[in-house]
Amino acid sequence: MTEKNDAVAMAEEYYDSTPAVQFYKNVWGGEDIHIGLYRTEDEDIGEASRRTVVNMAQRLSPLEPETKVIDLGAGFGGTARFLASNFGCHVTCVNVSETQNALNRNMNEEAGLSDQIKVIHGSFEEVPLPDENFEVAWSQDAILHSADRETVLDEVQRLLKPEGEFIFTDPMQSEECPQDVLQPILDRIHLETLGSVSFYRDNLAKRGFVEIDTIERVDDMRTHYARVGEELRDSYDEICELSGPDYVENMMRGLGHWVDGADKGYLAWGIMHFQKHDRSGAVVG
Ligand SMILES: C[S@@+](CC[C@H](N)C(=O)[O-])C[C@H]1O[C@@H](n2cnc3c(N)ncnc32)[C@H](O)[C@@H]1O
Repeated sequence: MTEKNDAVAMAEEYYDSTPAVQFYKNVWGGEDIHIGLYRTEDEDIGEASRRTVVNMAQRLSPLEPETKVIDLGAGFGGTARFLASNFGCHVTCVNVSETQNALNRNMNEEAGLSDQIKVIHGSFEEVPLPDENFEVAWSQDAILHSADRETVLDEVQRLLKPEGEFIFTDPMQSEECPQDVLQPILDRIHLETLGSVSFYRDNLAKRGFVEIDTIERVDDMRTHYARVGEELRDSYDEICELSGPDYVENMMRGLGHWVDGADKGYLAWGIMHFQKHDRSGAVVG
């Protein structure tokens, strides 16, 4: 079994590594390293990735300068800067990668947003912050890295104020996915399982959350991984210089597995949005 701390340490080592930092900065979409919502199959990755953030923000109760948001697995902080500059929110980024955190802090400084964005080095399985501190918990394509997703959900429940909202995306397996077919994908991210829509629904319901809305968009995940693969092929030599040929070859194989898994109906991805109630279903507060 993958131990919880092994998964955290592996994510930290991977996202801190120079090849990964160069790849995510130069190919994946710059500041946003998550799946995009695509208008066309050849759309710019950065534009589609930003559309996901905009779409998620529009689903929440109106965001205001008083709104405190926690972004779990915050990457380079593109979402935090979007929320802070467009809505005046205060955002706390939690990320296990200190390399990404340093880049995040620099970009916040350059954007004049350091007063609104706090960047914390830590795991979303054990967030070093007090209970009931945030109106919104946000996470994009990060919880998949956990070997203990139930603990991440416990943390979300603990950190949110009563009636707080949890909005997230995650690459998941489909409900129909046969056993053992995901091994190539799981091996690359060094995990035993992926979550699923029903996993999140059941486990959030157990923790007193009520579902507000969910959109399932596995086609966007397929397009995203295919687009990243295309960009990687187009800038192959340049990225090999930055990240090394082994990393690039391995990444291309990995992206192919995600595209193949989506084509075969084994995968799921979408935006899930919940509100914290008490465990009996009544709104707290
Ligand atoms: C695919 S990236 C997504 C980054 C960001 N959410 C975005 O959309 O741009 C996954 C992120 O999860 C972070 N991560 C992985 N495991 C983590 C953990 N246990 N605690 C906190 N962050 C973690 C990684 O460092 C990385 O920043």
